[in-house]
Formats: sequence, C-alpha cells, structure tokens
Amino acid sequence: MGELASLDPEAQKILAKYDQKRAATLPLLHLAQDKVGCVTPEVEAWVSKWTDVPVVRVREVVLFYSMYRQRPAGRHHIRFCTTTSCVLMGSEKVLGYLKKKLQIENGAVSADGKVSLEEAECLCACEMAPMMQVDGKYYGDLTEKKVDEILEKLK
Ligand code: FES
Repeated sequence: MGELASLDPEAQKILAKYDQKRAATLPLLHLAQDKVGCVTPEVEAWVSKWTDVPVVRVREVVLFYSMYRQRPAGRHHIRFCTTTSCVLMGSEKVLGYLKKKLQIENGAVSADGKVSLEEAECLCACEMAPMMQVDGKYYGDLTEKKVDEILEKLK
C-alpha cells in the first residue's frame, strides 16, 4: 500500500469529519481513486482499514456506484449518459459519432491513452440532454459539432 500511504494524512482529515468511520467510505474511495486512477483491491483494503468496513462491503459500494472505476482511465475521462431523456434527445447518434471519432468502445481508453469512455446511467442533468461529463464537467445539448469542439479542447 505504498502509494496509498501518502494519502494517510488526508484520510485522517476526512475521518475527523464524521461521527462514524464507515461514513467516510465514499470520500476515501474518491481520494484513493484520484491517486491510483481506479479502485484496485489494494484501494478497497486501504478503505476497509480506515473505516473498519469489511472489504466485501467496500467492494459492494464500488460495484454499486458507477463513479468508481475498476480500470484505469485515460488522462481525460468521459462519462456519456445513455438513459431515457438523453436517448429521446438523440444521444445514441452522438455517442456513435464519439466512439467512431475516438475509435473506442464503452470502457476503453484511446490508443494514445488520452481519453477513456464510459457509458453511464442518468447523470442528473436531463434538462441538458443529450449530455456527457468530461473530467467531471458537464456538457449538454450535444451534437456532433459540439463533440468535435469539446475533443479539440482536450488536445
Ligand atoms: S437521462 Fe441523461 S442526464 Fe438524465
């Protein structure tokens, strides 16, 4: 857990905010994912150590929330909404274009390691459908032209 040991001071600060250690499970997972790039078995064990939540329960949390990645992401990570409102507003066409442009499918990283793509359930921004997140920032009313502009900015 060498890489994670550097996060111990930050973990202590996070734990101090909560009455119960287990309440820190989600922020600790975020902290470690940001450092490591994804949630590995080592990350799960590290979170378990700090929260006293059994590793199997930490694993269940990771599997439940789509915001936790189990594989490394690219330098920029795209989460593309594939739920009803976005589909009704044309997301399938835009997503198809994005995949073609990046030459990757869901869950993959582009050959240059720059961009990863994840299809996601509703990202709670239905009013801007079709939409996606890039590194946590929301982009809506997507068209093929807008996708081109957004990807251009990532260069
Ligand atoms: S359905 Fe796409 S953000 Fe809600």
